[in-house]
Amino acid sequence: MSIIDVIEKKKEGNELSKEEIEFFINGYNNGEITDYQAAALIMAICIKGMTVDEISDLTMAMANSGEMLDLSDIAPNTVDKHSTGGIGDKITLILMPIVASIGIPIVKMSGRGLGITGGTVDKLQAIPGYKTDIDIDEVKNNVEDIGIALISQSSNLAPADKKMYALRDTIGCVDSVPLIASSIMSKKIASGAKNIILDVTCGKGAFMDTKTDAKNLSKVMKNIGKKAGRNVMCILTNMNEPVGYSVGNSLEVVEAVKALKGEMTEDVREIILTFGSYMLKMAGLGDDLEENEKRILKEIESGKAYKKFVELVGKQGGDISYVENLEKFEKAPFIVPVKSENSGYITDLSAELIGRVSVDLGAGRMKKEDGIDHRVGIIVCKKTGDKVSKDEIIAYVHANDSKKAEDAVLKVRNAYTILDKKVKKPSVILDVL
Ligand code: URA
Repeated sequence: MSIIDVIEKKKEGNELSKEEIEFFINGYNNGEITDYQAAALIMAICIKGMTVDEISDLTMAMANSGEMLDLSDIAPNTVDKHSTGGIGDKITLILMPIVASIGIPIVKMSGRGLGITGGTVDKLQAIPGYKTDIDIDEVKNNVEDIGIALISQSSNLAPADKKMYALRDTIGCVDSVPLIASSIMSKKIASGAKNIILDVTCGKGAFMDTKTDAKNLSKVMKNIGKKAGRNVMCILTNMNEPVGYSVGNSLEVVEAVKALKGEMTEDVREIILTFGSYMLKMAGLGDDLEENEKRILKEIESGKAYKKFVELVGKQGGDISYVENLEKFEKAPFIVPVKSENSGYITDLSAELIGRVSVDLGAGRMKKEDGIDHRVGIIVCKKTGDKVSKDEIIAYVHANDSKKAEDAVLKVRNAYTILDKKVKKPSVILDVL
């Protein structure tokens, strides 16, 4: 078989066979197929799409590209969670310690930032010493010891996705249903979870702009899960504006730690309670969603959820003194306020523009080998529905360079639409599928 023939076949819009898909994934994973050949095929998939069978075959080939974690003996009722990507999305850092503390065993494999969306792995690595690439035996030990492991793909789970993910990020191929669905589901299947809950983000800061597209992506992922014998549910969430108030890696860790101590914005609280209560239900810990929400709040109020996060950080080699004293996180050298140019109501805050600014500031990558600056990002002080006065501070830019800070201030100001009409705060949970 030749990779050129496979590329040509997809370029012409034809359906690839299981053997051709496996040939591509295995060849790319072991280095026989080059980055540029993989880029050509990925671009063809992006443009021509894939059938349901192709997406399933692609997912399983990616899942099988490394080890498959079997948690059935140590954690039979585990529930995994994944987001299709967003701006300021620090939900995993808050939600997973909460549910682990309640008693759901968690093994969660996350990714780096993709396109303008942030990645949980980059956020975890903002904690000095935190190792995301622990091996499978350590993952299992950690789950047995403390009930949670938050890891990256370097643990030889779905390594083909790791390579494709990094490549897609730099060739404009992130917003494709077959590629997103296979990327997410291969990681989830390889991580061994029986139950999977997916946060399918929808809006200007997400890969799916409309509810129809988000529903379609959900349908595809649920179908892959069913074929693989996994129980999958999807919750559509609004990604027109950033989640919470911070965008940028260490800024988001700080927000997450505060949230674990009970200090949460309304949108974060709604997402945590909704996802958490369904996760408890999926794990067989209670069918009454309202009761489950109360249990989650109790876990936060008692300090147990925060303690679980500290335990997790320590177990994976992170310096817990940063979590215990958030002032220790190094600050960006330029912290510049963004002031409103007029009075009125915020009718829109573009997650997409804020995401772009955060990448420009260095919180995300332009090329796959780029490093990131964990200190930089944006703090939004005002969001859609809020009233503002002229010259009031609406955001702060955290930058490592004065010119970048100056550019970012203008762009962040442009991300806001301020009009003389009152609007309601947008709903966060859009649908449960
Ligand atoms: N998250 C992933 O893991 N992969 C994608 O392609 C998008 C979001």
